[in-house]
Parts: sequence; C-alpha cells; structure tokens
Amino acid sequence: MPPVPPPYDINLDLGELVVPEDVLQARILELGRQITEDYQGRPPLLVGVLKGAFVFMADLARAIDLPVEFDFMAVSSYGAATKTSGVVRIVKDLDLDLTDRHVLIVEDIVDSGLTLSYLRKNLLARNPASLEICALLVREGNAATEVDLRYVAFRIPPAFVVGYGLDVAERYRNLPFVCVYNEKVAGH
Ligand code: IMP
Ligand code: MG
Repeated sequence: MPPVPPPYDINLDLGELVVPEDVLQARILELGRQITEDYQGRPPLLVGVLKGAFVFMADLARAIDLPVEFDFMAVSSYGAATKTSGVVRIVKDLDLDLTDRHVLIVEDIVDSGLTLSYLRKNLLARNPASLEICALLVREGNAATEVDLRYVAFRIPPAFVVGYGLDVAERYRNLPFVCVYNEKVAGH
C-alpha cells in the first residue's frame, strides 16, 4: 500500500494508505446508487452510529436520490469486557419511532461484529418494516460474529485504521482517506 499523501505525511504515526480519497468517494457513489434502487417506494431512515459513522453517513446520504430521514445513536462499551461480551450501553438513544420504518443502520467499521449484533437485536424489537446494515469497513481475518451486512463499502486487512470518521483518542476523524495508524511510532 502507498504512503499517505502530503501534507498528512508529516504525522509519523500515520501509516500506509488503506483507502484513498478518490476510491472512497467513487465507491460511496456506487453504494448510493444501489441503495436508491433497492429502496424505491420505501424511503429509508438512516440510523448513524456515533461518532465514527458521521462522515460516511453525510457523503452516503447525498449519494442517495430518495427522501431519506436521519437519526443517530451513540453506544459505549460496558467496561473492559465489551469487546468480548458484546454488551453495549446506549449512551444516546434514537429520537424517532421505528415502527413501520425502513431502517438502514450506518456504521463505520465492523470488527468482531458484536456491537452491530447487539444493535440489530435492539432495533428489531422496535418493529421496523425492515432493518438492514451498511458498513463502511469490515476488518478481515477476524472471527467476526455472523452479522448480516447488506452493504459493505470495503473489506480491509487486519490493522488499526483512522480517518474518514475513525479516530484514535478522538483524533484523525477529519482525514479524507483511511490509513493505518502506527501505534509504535505514536509510542502507545
Ligand atoms: P466490534 O463490536 O468489535 O465490531 O467493534 C466495532 C467498533 O470498534 C467500531 O464501531 C469502532 O468504533 C471501533 N473500532 C474497531 N476497529 C477500529 C479501528 O481500526 N479504528 C477505529 N475504531 C475502530
Ligand atoms: Mg463505532
């Protein structure tokens, strides 16, 4: 993979480019067209998982040629066991009622899949007309919980990544591309 482009290359903790900006944008247009086709006559309610999904959701929504609506949810880990138990706490719940709505969850990255498994179960209990998931990234090489992902923009190799909404300690969400984060250089 190529290095990150200037001027971002001055940040030595940024590693290889995983998804360049032009590739990212082209794929999102494609996903938007597909969602527009799939949701004809049943406009979707996009549910973004904060904070990571906000950049992706903003671009994806503008690539969908339908009267979409928006809501957001924030979840947080339940102690240190969350990554393995999949128990998550809802920090900010939705404002809208999901009854009879065509809900499309928008997530930044699927790692173990436990967060999404929990969310899917939780939202299904609210009687939506349909419930699908759109993920920007899926990390490969992980014994991911079987989550049914309707739309995936990119499958990426097993490295920690930042940019395009994804952070490390709240930094780098505003990078217009996705790249590897070098923990060793950053001294963590
Ligand atoms: P899962 O429950 O194991 O699928 O964890 C998914 C969540 O972990 C995502 O929504 C992200 O918030 C976070 N996460 C996982 N991998 C990365 C990464 O490479 N960069 C930034 N955040 C990540
Ligand atoms: Mg997240």
